[in-house]
Amino acid sequence: MTPTDELAAVLAVTNTDDRERLHAVDSPAPTLFTWDYDKGARPALKTLYEKAKKAQWNGETDLDWSIDVDPERVAMEMQGGDYRSRFLQRMADMADSPIASWREREWARYAIEAFSHRVSQFLHGEQGALLCTAKIVETVPWIDAKYYAATQVMDEARHVEVFGRYLHEKLRDPYPINAHLRMLLDDIIVDSRWDMTYLGMQIMVEGLALAAFGFMYQIATEPLLKQLLRYVMADEARHVAFGVLSLKEVYDGLSGAEIRDRQEFAFEATLRMRDRFMQQEVWERLGVDVRQMMRALLALPPEENEFQRLMFSKIVPNCRKLGLLDAGDGWLRTKFTEIGIIDFEHAPDTGEEYAEFDLGRAYQSEETIA
Ligand SMILES: [Fe+2]
Ligand SMILES: [Fe+2]
Repeated sequence: MTPTDELAAVLAVTNTDDRERLHAVDSPAPTLFTWDYDKGARPALKTLYEKAKKAQWNGETDLDWSIDVDPERVAMEMQGGDYRSRFLQRMADMADSPIASWREREWARYAIEAFSHRVSQFLHGEQGALLCTAKIVETVPWIDAKYYAATQVMDEARHVEVFGRYLHEKLRDPYPINAHLRMLLDDIIVDSRWDMTYLGMQIMVEGLALAAFGFMYQIATEPLLKQLLRYVMADEARHVAFGVLSLKEVYDGLSGAEIRDRQEFAFEATLRMRDRFMQQEVWERLGVDVRQMMRALLALPPEENEFQRLMFSKIVPNCRKLGLLDAGDGWLRTKFTEIGIIDFEHAPDTGEEYAEFDLGRAYQSEETIA
C-alpha cells in the first residue's frame, strides 16, 4: 500500500451516526452444547477458573466513588506530566503543522479531549469483551473453557460498569466508539470460527488493553483511577492467559492454510488498532485538519510514538508465543517486519507479566490496593 492509499484507507473510516443507540451485528456461529462434563480435562483452564471465582470484586463497593477528580489534572498526568508528549511536540515542530501555533490553552484542551477519548474507547472495548466472552461461552466446545469464560463475562460486565461510571461521573463529554475499533469488534463477532473470537478479543484487544492499563497505572496518581485500573488489570491478566492456553491447543492441530487465515486476521487487527489510536475524532472536535494530522501520524516511525510502541510491545510477543509469527512460511513475521514492529518479538509477553499483575488474594484486603 502506498502512503497515499494508506491515508485514504484511514480517512475512509469515520463515524456516520453519533446518535446511534444500538448496533446490531449478525453472527452465524453455531452454539455448542457439550455432553462431556469432565471438569478438569484441561487442568490449566480449571486452575484459572478456580482462581477467577475467588477473585471477584464489586465495582460499587470496592472503589471509593466519593473521590473528587480534577479532569484537567488527571488528563495532564496521562500525557506524562506535560500537555505535550514527545511525539506530539514533534508533530507541532513539523513544517506546515496544523498545531504549530498551539499555546498552553490549546494543549490543555487537547489533553482533556485525548483522555476522555481514551477512556471512552476503553469503555466501548470492554463492552466488546463482554459480548465476545458471552459468545465464547456458547461456541467453545470444552466444558472447562465454558466455565472459565462464564467468569470472564462477569469480569467484563464489571469493567464496563466501572469505566462507564468513571467516564460519566468524573470526566466530561464522552466520545462515541471510534470507527476503526467498531470495525475490529464487528470483524471479531462476525467470524463464525470460535477460535477467532479468542484471537481477536483475548489476544489482540485484551493484550493491548493490558499494556495500555499498565502504562496508565504506572503514571497515574489520581487515586480512584489508580484503584480502578489495578482491579481491572488483575482480571485482564487472567483473560489473556485464557486466550493463550486455549489457542495453543487449537493451533497445534491446524493446517498451513488455516494458520495463514489466523495470521491475516491478526495482522488486520493490528492495523485497525493502530488506526484507532490516531484519535481522528479528537482532532475533529478540536477543529484541526484531520487529513493533515493523519498523514503526519502515519509517517511517524513506531519508535517515536510511545503509545504505539507500548501496544506493539505486547501484541508481537503474544503472537510469537502462539507460534503465529513463524508458522507456515512466516507470513506474519514478514508483515510485522514491513510495518517496522518485528523488534518487539522478544519483549515480555503478557503471560510473563501475569504474576506481576495478579492480585491473588489481595481483593479481600483494601490496604494492599491503596
Ligand atoms: Fe475487560
Ligand atoms: Fe478482559
